[in-house]
Amino acid sequence: MTAFKTLDDVDVAGKRVLVRVDLNVPMDGDRVTDDTRLRAIQPTLNELSQKGAKTILLAHFGRPKGKRDESQSLRPVVAALEKTLIQDVGFAEDCVGEAAAAAVARMTPGDVLLLENVRFHAGEETNDPAFAAELAKLGDIYVNDAFSAAHRAHASTEGLARLLPAYAGRSMQAELDALSKALGSPERPVVAVVGGAKVSTKLDLLGNLVAKVDYLVIGGGMANTFLAAQGIDVGKSLCERDLLDTAREIEAKAKAAGCTIVLPADGRLAREFKAEAANRVAAVTEVAADEMILDIGPAGAEGVAKVLEQAKTLVWNGPFGAFELTPFDEGTVAVAQKAAALTVEGRLLSVAGGGDTVAALNHAGVAGDFTYVSTAGGAFLEWLEGKELPGVAALSATN
Ligand code: 3PG
Ligand code: MG
Repeated sequence: MTAFKTLDDVDVAGKRVLVRVDLNVPMDGDRVTDDTRLRAIQPTLNELSQKGAKTILLAHFGRPKGKRDESQSLRPVVAALEKTLIQDVGFAEDCVGEAAAAAVARMTPGDVLLLENVRFHAGEETNDPAFAAELAKLGDIYVNDAFSAAHRAHASTEGLARLLPAYAGRSMQAELDALSKALGSPERPVVAVVGGAKVSTKLDLLGNLVAKVDYLVIGGGMANTFLAAQGIDVGKSLCERDLLDTAREIEAKAKAAGCTIVLPADGRLAREFKAEAANRVAAVTEVAADEMILDIGPAGAEGVAKVLEQAKTLVWNGPFGAFELTPFDEGTVAVAQKAAALTVEGRLLSVAGGGDTVAALNHAGVAGDFTYVSTAGGAFLEWLEGKELPGVAALSATN
């Protein structure tokens, strides 16, 4: 089915396997605060160890701009990785050169070694062939298990796949599989929920989705721009007034494609952007000049629930309201719980992705009930936008 090879297509025993993983994890000091991305790569790494590979991990952390910066070292991730993998993980001070070569030379089958942040070298982000060749020297084959970094055409995500026999890891496979089920040839009706603050950051996404889905539910601050485009006064709500024409164009494109755009019928309104701010529920047509819509209201959430009940497939990116501030999390929580319940009942295939969205689903306590929750932020969006991800394209190109 897939155009690329997987771990089923190679004998890794005794081989040095360079695995690109995403260890760009949230940290508080030296502590990993969310291990989702570590758990995502566990199947690939445990499988490689069990099969007797020498597993060499390549990853980035932060954006050190091509220079060594101890505050962006990957060393503090080792302990959390050992805990997730239930195995020792070695560490090398550099990802190329003497330190890396010596550490790799000491490995025995089954070992796992993490190399220091690839972004300490400028050649990583410029996808410098000479830097990619330095990395390639360390391994016999290359495995990419970092879907969430696949929108970057960097040496460790793209260049390396062209220099060594290249394979998709289990997490990469699972991401691509889930995403293509949701938008490749999905069961209809398909609903996309797109929320978040700004239309401007998701223009390509909205434009692409209206051509693919049956319903586009717009939530969060971006909904206000669409409401304003219909002549509704949204008061002091977040609203991109310079994009009203753009919103109208997206609506026209949706209409032509037979896609129904769903906007909130009501909102939870407040005068201050803070937790527990005094608030009221009202129709979106009744926002006072000094009020802001900070969440979808109960009638709006019910309207979205009704759409979900008709649907077979859901893709979700972006929350409905200021979900980090109670009680403005209620709309997002209500819709998330509805989607989760339909999924558990076997009536809906649900796929969600993006940092805020995953945080919102965790907050609602339902991330585990979705069919698939992507570890990716930017890559998930670019995939939904219909863009080719360089990291994925390179895997296919070499095979
Ligand atoms: C992420 O955290 O979204 C990925 O690891 C990509 O990181 P980047 O946005 O710094 O390239
Ligand atoms: Mg990012």
